[in-house]
Amino acid sequence: MNQDRWTAVDDYLTDMLAPADEALAAALTDSEAAGLPAIGVTAPQGKLLHLLARLLGARTILEIGTLGGYSTMWLARALPEDGRLITLEHNPEHVGVARANLARAGLDKVADVRPGAALDTLPDLVADPAVPFDMVFVDADKPNNPRYVEWALRLTRPGGLIVVDNVVRGGAVTDESSTDPAVTATRELMDLVARDPRLDATAIQTVGGKGYDGMLLARVVE
Ligand code: SAH
Ligand code: DHB
Ligand code: MG
Repeated sequence: MNQDRWTAVDDYLTDMLAPADEALAAALTDSEAAGLPAIGVTAPQGKLLHLLARLLGARTILEIGTLGGYSTMWLARALPEDGRLITLEHNPEHVGVARANLARAGLDKVADVRPGAALDTLPDLVADPAVPFDMVFVDADKPNNPRYVEWALRLTRPGGLIVVDNVVRGGAVTDESSTDPAVTATRELMDLVARDPRLDATAIQTVGGKGYDGMLLARVVE
């Protein structure tokens, strides 16, 4: 098995089950044209986030790490008309691209892009009417993931879902001696989640167009 095979299958699954419409395709094209890195979720992963939000009957969602708003679009489209998605993004250029992409998709009423470093803007959310969130998608700077999940726990309703992207990292997560902050933080995150009785979690390994990685899924217990 190799990357070409994973990409071919991802393309097939995308065509069959998660085809891009005009707004999704334009979001990717414009993100690339603006020089944003192609590190967003794949289409099948975006569809998974969408389905999870639908299954939860989510009305409010928090995303940490917007990039060009691609995952934001999959999530926001799962919400009812009066639903609300707040997405936190540090890079002002990414904020601009994401806002334009969301507006073109007709999602600018539902999805609110909040500029700033997430650890600075998360405290403001405590008083936000969208809280408690039904779902949180954590996908920003990996070394802060333990802090983001602590915040997510504070801000998510019982029965809600916390998803963390990029927790396998090509298998590096099992390397106890790694000094890569993304890996050590992922291992710290796993310890935190495994120990916390308020969370019931699993993680799945994924392969596809963006390589070998995985997602953590944690339900906030009632
Ligand atoms: N969720 C997106 C991908 C996000 S990539 C998708 O799947 O389509 C990670 C994003 O997190 C980048 O845009 C980066 O600028 C942002 N980021 C990095 N550090 C951050 C921080 N401290 N606070 C908020 N956003 C941050
Ligand atoms: C990176 C970030 C992501 O969210 C991702 O899915 C893949 C890579 C990164 O920062 O390299
Ligand atoms: Mg990611």
